[in-house]
Amino acid sequence: MLIHHTIAETRAALANAGRIVLVPTMGNLHDGHIALVRQARKHGDCVVASIFVNRLQFRPGEDFEKYPRTLEADCERLRTAGVNHLFAPDENELYPVPQRYVIEPPPEHANILEGEFRPGHFRGVATVVMKLFSVVQPQAALFGKKDYQQFMVLSDMVREFGVPIEVIPGETIRADDGLALSSRNGYLSEQERAEAPNLFRVLSNVVDAVRKGNKDYYALEQGAVSELQARGWTPDYVALRKKVDLQLPSAHDSGLVVLAAARLGSTRLIDNLEV
Ligand code: PAF
Repeated sequence: MLIHHTIAETRAALANAGRIVLVPTMGNLHDGHIALVRQARKHGDCVVASIFVNRLQFRPGEDFEKYPRTLEADCERLRTAGVNHLFAPDENELYPVPQRYVIEPPPEHANILEGEFRPGHFRGVATVVMKLFSVVQPQAALFGKKDYQQFMVLSDMVREFGVPIEVIPGETIRADDGLALSSRNGYLSEQERAEAPNLFRVLSNVVDAVRKGNKDYYALEQGAVSELQARGWTPDYVALRKKVDLQLPSAHDSGLVVLAAARLGSTRLIDNLEV
């Protein structure tokens, strides 16, 4: 695996690389990222991973500073998984001047769910991903469905700009007890880690209820919120939405997803399950 820290080096190295598949990450890699890499290998000749902790998508007071930077261990994992090139720029390389031009996702996507609780988050994500696309110029890119709303925003961005990149979803990878893998799981204490799979369990119960025909979505959401609160969580939302656009479903809509974000101690976890 070749490691590039500059845009010029990366572009030169990829000039004749064939069909390039990009796996953008913020590092601190876990088996979910490695599953994306394995999937990426089936979609092209050359797998490029990127590692960049993107300040633009964090709000003041969020975990930008403490986000784990584990480049050496990440390189080892990516090499073993068969990545061909790693693009790992520093901030001065990717943002040499303040980023005044940004991608502004539409409010109906950017201001709901995650966007309601993390204003500006999807602007930061879309902007850095467009930059990564411009550096790597892949033919395909993979994004995990664990960040369901992010996947939707980026797919729409690519479609509306006519960017010639295939956006491919990766399934959420879970620990044996159901907890969705996330770099932020590392923030959990032992006790919190034992409690954390209950987020998945609560969402699974909502899915079961909908599959059995319960259409009182509001009651299901409120029931899930109450159960999490009773267990000591601070939920931001539990929401049943249409998969296609994450808008509110009516009783005759099919193709739903239940999404949640909740804080356990000081750690904010997100998860979702398709119905
Ligand atoms: O999902 C992530 O890790 C990040 O949001 C991404 C897509 C790498 C952009 O910084």
